Amino acid sequence: ANKIYVGLLGLGTIGTGVARIIGGHQNKIKQVVGQEVVIKTVLDRDIEKCKTFFGESVHCTDNFDEILNDEEISIIVELIGYVPAAKDYISKALAAGKHVVSANKDLVALHGKELVTLAKANKCDFLYEAAVAGGVPILRAITESFASDNIQKVMGIVNGTTNFMMTKMDKEGYSYDEALALAQELGFAEKNPTSDVDGLDAARKMVILARLAFGTNDVTLDDVAVTGIRNVSINDIKLANRLGYKIKLIGTAEKIDDSVNVEVGPVFVPESHPLASVNNEMNAVFVAGEALGETMFYGAGAGELPTATAVVSDVMNIAKNILMGITGNIFNEYEVETRIAKPEQVINP
Ligand code: HSE
Repeated sequence: ANKIYVGLLGLGTIGTGVARIIGGHQNKIKQVVGQEVVIKTVLDRDIEKCKTFFGESVHCTDNFDEILNDEEISIIVELIGYVPAAKDYISKALAAGKHVVSANKDLVALHGKELVTLAKANKCDFLYEAAVAGGVPILRAITESFASDNIQKVMGIVNGTTNFMMTKMDKEGYSYDEALALAQELGFAEKNPTSDVDGLDAARKMVILARLAFGTNDVTLDDVAVTGIRNVSINDIKLANRLGYKIKLIGTAEKIDDSVNVEVGPVFVPESHPLASVNNEMNAVFVAGEALGETMFYGAGAGELPTATAVVSDVMNIAKNILMGITGNIFNEYEVETRIAKPEQVINP
């Protein structure tokens, strides 16, 4: 084929964004990849909505088999959310040798290890940059830009809803309930916002970050100590302010000796620290590397186009790997070295 064909599962907010970016940025995508990347078939329960959105240019279906059995489709983009269905579709896709992009943090946190194993066995790529901090390119940074370093710690604000709520409570005197209602209205909150306010959404993202930062797929949600923001009152926020702090829901993943420690909870952050000024729904992630020192990534952790940008860039990376015949090599599992050799210990070849 002289095109790379994509099957898109789910035409919700992010799915619509993916279609917009693939359509709107096609010229650049084609130049970067070296071939056109097109959405061939879209799976959505609402076929009429799909047809209205795409017109004749795309096939709309509610039957996954039409995508699974289409040999022209080499990349499947999973944006349906519901974990059991997503897992079923992705497993079938990988087993059939199709590459997968997902934005589904719940799925990757829960079943990432199994899916990565399946992807490897089938020489497939499986990428999920959008699952953590939306448009902020943090997974690629950790796995590629920090590839030569030993990461010591990853720390940050990875849930936009709670950060938005606490900003509104702090700066505009919103009550907890008013702030949550506004976050829901603006579309940052999960369908069930208890995942946001109880810290579970942040915990899922920290599990994914910890796995990639420390080269192990063995970190699970059960390993994370999680506290949410339900018990953070306006009075706590005011007290923190008087003492020169901001309260932020911080996720931390750290390598201590041979163990990986992952935590999520409200933290007093000194006002002078860059994380203290990350406001509203924005996300920020600090990465500390042995050689590189501290680097901070800041940006939109949710929303249609920022998240869709990450999805489409994953699709493009896979498309390039397909054209070069090097798929199935992107996994980040290794034994971590803890020390850099002193100069006198380095033996030149
Ligand atoms: N509910 C999530 C958040 C959406 O507020 O950050 C993006 O993952």
